[in-house]
Amino acid sequence: MRERIKSSEPGLSGVPILLGVTGSIAAYKAAELASRLSQAGAEVRAVLTAAAREFITPLTFETLTGHPVPGGMFGPGRSRGTAHITLADFPRLVVIAPVSADFIGKLAGGLADDLLSAVVMATRAPVLLAPGMNSGMWESPAVEENVRRLRKRGVEFVGPESGYLACGYEGAGRLASLEAILEAITALLSRP
Ligand SMILES: Cc1cc2nc3c(=O)[nH]c(=O)nc-3n(C[C@H](O)[C@H](O)[C@H](O)COP(=O)(O)O)c2cc1C
Repeated sequence: MRERIKSSEPGLSGVPILLGVTGSIAAYKAAELASRLSQAGAEVRAVLTAAAREFITPLTFETLTGHPVPGGMFGPGRSRGTAHITLADFPRLVVIAPVSADFIGKLAGGLADDLLSAVVMATRAPVLLAPGMNSGMWESPAVEENVRRLRKRGVEFVGPESGYLACGYEGAGRLASLEAILEAITALLSRP
């Protein structure tokens, strides 16, 4: 007998969430996040940067979310019309997990030269960033300053955690656990 599995993340049913994925080695973990959000009934749309596509394919997210993953702002696979605005207006929350050092810098600098950064620039939804990077990158003055700038603008962060890093180091920069990211998502969504 087939049964619909009950969500372990109450409060996400029918909630439109835009999941951004950037070029961090932790990008593979975003697939599990997309799956958990979809299982909880959220309406997930994924947007991958060009670098993210080097780590994990759009097909994975199309399959897990049940929706096409738009190509870039220009070139093959681009969506018709002004996809950056349609996608910006769609969600109740934008979550970028993992967010790279580069992308944090891009957002802090107010750049909008690819689909995901243009969506973040145009959206009125809250933005939650889950960094994933080497400890040297996370602790660099540039990233620290960029994180401070973004926090001042109301951008929310979850993690990173300390622990084993893919480069073989131990330290801060490991993507927050899925549970912590899901908790941060539900906490943000339940804010008045
Ligand atoms: C094998 C490999 C692993 C990488 N891992 C990370 C990472 O974990 N975090 C990070 O911030 N950048 C990492 N980078 C660098 C980014 O992929 C690079 O800065 C890229 O330009 C990010 O693009 P995006 O921010 O548009 O997605 C890695 C690069 C390579 C080649």
